[in-house]
Amino acid sequence: MKILAIETSCDETAAAVVENGVKIISNVVASSKEMHEKYGGIVPEVAARMQLESIIPVITESLKQAKLNYQSIDSLAVTVGPGLIGSLLVGVETAKTMAFVLNKPIIPVNHVLAHMYANFVSSSEQNSSRAESRDNIQFPAISLVVSGGHTELYLMKSPKKLAWLGGTLDDAAGECFDKAARLLGFGHGGGLAIQNAAAEYQGSSIENRVRLPRPMLDKKNALNFSFSGLKTAILREVNNRKENQQFNHVTIQQLAFEVQETITDVLVKKTLLAAQKYTAKSILLSGGVSANTRLREKFMIHNSLFPIHVPPPALCTDNAVYIGSYAYFRGKQEDWKTITAVPDFSVEVSL
Ligand code: KG4
Ligand code: ZN
Repeated sequence: MKILAIETSCDETAAAVVENGVKIISNVVASSKEMHEKYGGIVPEVAARMQLESIIPVITESLKQAKLNYQSIDSLAVTVGPGLIGSLLVGVETAKTMAFVLNKPIIPVNHVLAHMYANFVSSSEQNSSRAESRDNIQFPAISLVVSGGHTELYLMKSPKKLAWLGGTLDDAAGECFDKAARLLGFGHGGGLAIQNAAAEYQGSSIENRVRLPRPMLDKKNALNFSFSGLKTAILREVNNRKENQQFNHVTIQQLAFEVQETITDVLVKKTLLAAQKYTAKSILLSGGVSANTRLREKFMIHNSLFPIHVPPPALCTDNAVYIGSYAYFRGKQEDWKTITAVPDFSVEVSL
């Protein structure tokens, strides 16, 4: 079954063809990130306008790469939420129109739940160990979805059976990385800019370390997250350094390092707690923040206890491949006439 998947929830316009939920036939992503750089953040109207300009070329290219025509696909899949309404509408209306004109089934997809299915796919170019990775995923699995807008933990009993365990009570981990990047002068560079600056940091003596708060490590909130306090703490540290004329190359690197250590500590600790609590047989990571090399490193330490699955970095950030995979494993066809964009689509599913 070949699914043509479309993803337009934020500032990426993406289309992919995925076969039987596991094989990437094509994968095209256009981003309007640079457009937003000069405004210091995503401007929804600009993102929506760029979606409109990119959607047809991106879909056309994904079919061209797949060497398929419109009629040879079996089904459409489209992100309906959560996301920015203007951006979502472009993908949803395009997919609905295609379903009507081509007389093909269409599957609406929850973007956040779909992220974790990036662990199930492989392309023919990828080596055989990755190509087999889906068969290697043991259930029950604990799945951490950590992106720009979400930080959620799930119990995955099978590719179809998901239960939400907890999530952020305020800001997402990615949002905290993004805010820290802006405060440290990296503009719209996000978590990747923090990762790069942290990698440059040469380390310092223990007494020089900035200890940023690691919130919600108490029992009651064991599987929930909170990152807004951390954002404030970073702001305070930046302001202190600026006031004392100590905001320089080295202190910026040091703060980047501490921000990354703090966020990754919390993510690892809570995911492991969930894995122990539910006697998980594996851990799945996904979402843009799971591209972070330090996070991957910290998780890998526990690989012998809980085998860790994490997609290649390009499949961690937004794309349409995992939309197609989710649609295959967990999606339900709907009449195109009833499908609408749902900007606040809930991610709190139960078994
Ligand atoms: O999944 P994604 O592409 O979009 C959403 O659905 O939100 O995630 C984007 C987030 C941004 O916050 C970005 O800063 C973060 O993922 N990110 C990273 C890295 N690459 C992307 N955070 C930390 N380290 C990275 N290497
Ligand atoms: Zn995403």
